[in-house]
Amino acid sequence: MSKKLLGVLLATTMFASLLAGCGSTAAAPEAAPAATEAAPADDAAPADDTAAAPAAGGKVGVAMPTKDLQRWNQDGENMQKELEAAGYEVDLQYASNDVQQQVSQIENMINGGCSCLVIASIDGESLGTVMDMAKEANIPVIAYDRLIMKSDAVSYYATFDNYMVGTKQGEYIADTLDLDNAAGPFNMEITAGDPGDNNANYFYSGAMDVLQKYIDEGKIVVKSGQTAFADVATAEWKTENAQSRMENILSTYYADGSKLDICLCSNDSTALGVENALAANYTGEYPIVTGQDCDKANVKNMLAGKQSMSIFKDTRTLASQVVKMVGQILSGSEVDVNDTETYDNGTGVIPSYLCEPVFADANNYKELLIDSGYYTEADLQ
Ligand code: BGC
Repeated sequence: MSKKLLGVLLATTMFASLLAGCGSTAAAPEAAPAATEAAPADDAAPADDTAAAPAAGGKVGVAMPTKDLQRWNQDGENMQKELEAAGYEVDLQYASNDVQQQVSQIENMINGGCSCLVIASIDGESLGTVMDMAKEANIPVIAYDRLIMKSDAVSYYATFDNYMVGTKQGEYIADTLDLDNAAGPFNMEITAGDPGDNNANYFYSGAMDVLQKYIDEGKIVVKSGQTAFADVATAEWKTENAQSRMENILSTYYADGSKLDICLCSNDSTALGVENALAANYTGEYPIVTGQDCDKANVKNMLAGKQSMSIFKDTRTLASQVVKMVGQILSGSEVDVNDTETYDNGTGVIPSYLCEPVFADANNYKELLIDSGYYTEADLQ
């Protein structure tokens, strides 16, 4: 009973401080640049840092989109492990990419006494009502990896720099083909992500902001003519969807023996679909294929020469950052953010912490993925 009362008091104080924090996003604390995100807790400013402080306890709801994609399993596991180690009870749920299922899972978290929610949404625009419920119950929400749109219940956002993911993919293509000097033309096809995922547009725009000028100059040619985001998007980021679209493109535009030089793919699940389509339908010299996430299947393909690069987003880094933010929110301390300009969810800019994505290919995978303990060699055989 008294515990309950304490909870209510804590939530009220917390909500007041959240309101203060969120109401003045302009004054939201600009933390040190992304380099600090991996720094151990005791390297940070002692007064505000609560990561090392004993957790207040309580239950944290963690809503993940699906178990189908490798990364979300890792994200969920890391979050659970780290939150439990910090003394929280964890309600971790996966929603099979089903929006309604995710909504009811979040409702259960709210009704089940969670004092903070960490949500990687399936469709960023579909959580409005349940977010209102969270707000009503004074439960702070951290949008995890994907921004929750059109809701003022979102307190903070933690992700990797999504635009930078795209620019790294675009720059890799420009550098590898020496587009500033080469005459070309090089044929390229584009495969982007799910339109309901706010990140998908950032990945696409980051890459296109690098590559568009070469398209304009005629150095890059998109034979299918499909360049607009809506034309190249992949529903639910599904490998099968990316594969069947690429099969159509190959049979329509490349069956005459035309060379395909570049497959710009926003992530690994879509890259895998493109690689499957190429394996079955394309006999020319293998194109550059980009990706993101360093999923095991894709790293294996990188080692086999079927994918050129990926972007490594160390889910352990993101999980640690989010656990730190949960602790800061629940103890009413200043919350560690490093971007207060980029991510407007339609209700205003959400104070964000952006971790830095890292370029990965067959040359540096050992150091990045094996030496860091992310995978074992056996995982990649
Ligand atoms: C994530 C990517 C992931 C994609 C598909 C995006 O929101 O940022 O890392 O590949 O979703 O799950």
